[in-house]
Amino acid sequence: MGPVLGLETSCDDTAVAVLAEDGRILAQTRSSQDDEHAPFGGIVPEIAARAHALRLDRLIARAMAEAGLHFRDLGAIAVTAGPGLIGGLAVGVVTAAAIGSVHRLPVVPINHLEGHALTARLTDGAAFPYLLLLLSGGHSQLIAVEGVGRYRRLGTTLDDALGEAFDKVAKLSGLGFPGGPAVERTATGGDPSRYALPRPMVGQPGCHFSFSGLKTAVRQVLPTLPEGPERAAALADLCASFQQAAFDAVADRTAKAVRRFRERWPDGRELVVAGGVAANRALRRRLDDLAARQRLCLKVPPPELCTDNGVMIAWAGIERLRAGLESEHPLQARARWPLDPEAEPAPGAGVKA
Ligand code: KG4
Ligand code: ZN
Repeated sequence: MGPVLGLETSCDDTAVAVLAEDGRILAQTRSSQDDEHAPFGGIVPEIAARAHALRLDRLIARAMAEAGLHFRDLGAIAVTAGPGLIGGLAVGVVTAAAIGSVHRLPVVPINHLEGHALTARLTDGAAFPYLLLLLSGGHSQLIAVEGVGRYRRLGTTLDDALGEAFDKVAKLSGLGFPGGPAVERTATGGDPSRYALPRPMVGQPGCHFSFSGLKTAVRQVLPTLPEGPERAAALADLCASFQQAAFDAVADRTAKAVRRFRERWPDGRELVVAGGVAANRALRRRLDDLAARQRLCLKVPPPELCTDNGVMIAWAGIERLRAGLESEHPLQARARWPLDPEAEPAPGAGVKA
């Protein structure tokens, strides 16, 4: 098959990796756009697309040099084709298509969520079927992963994704962008019981999430925080309370999904966590407890492979090539691309696939 070049440009990270066909990482590079987007407190799609276009070629050249390979040595190119910001996706897809046609290489279009979903197979040898908890800036989903390309969505968010809620809480609190790591840092040592915040969806039927009410509750508490020297401690307590409330909700929804997963996939033994929020250590501790109680093996990729990266895209390409599924999808940038197209629409407005 030969080594696979992976390209990721769906959001605000330009990321490239080269993997040997057995999954060994030969090179990886990533360029974050945090500095460009920070003044706006969130991602600006036009700025993201331009930054990808300016950087991608150089990152590819650097990764190929690091791997000590020429394009002619590759077996294939894997590229994120969706879901995400359409301008950035188009940059990746056009670049992959150009290199592919010049060097006569197959180009495998990858669903970004599939990249997150399959990473734990590379890093931790996760075995199908497993229950996936995917928590990123754009998605909060519980998915039964039956095999490559075979995903059954058990739950999704009715409004904001969890990473988005972290980012908004950080922005409201003046903690900067990206918000997740800043909120986690601020929460360290804080008292999670000081502020009584809602636990959205806890105890309700089904496995869906909702985080916008929690974010609104934080917004209402913020003006009541003391000014002056006591503020730092109060903000630490508020961030800790926010994390606790959010992770209570995650634990409740995940426990529900475990029950459903067990009924339909009794052979499943693993709970896999993926997406940027999986880098959060307090969440990992919480899920360790949950997995132990549920007698499931918890698998969480290392933090740098939880946030967006090129390795996960190259790996998903390898998985598709091995399964003979490299041509299942058209090579075309798609802003919306649900992993499980047959999932029932979740109730409520602003539904994300
Ligand atoms: O998967 P990812 O890199 O990009 C998307 O596909 O969305 O996830 C980025 C999200 C951001 O919302 C970021 O704030 C959040 O993951 N995140 C975290 C942490 N690190 C990143 N959230 C909570 N705690 C963290 N340590
Ligand atoms: Zn992602």
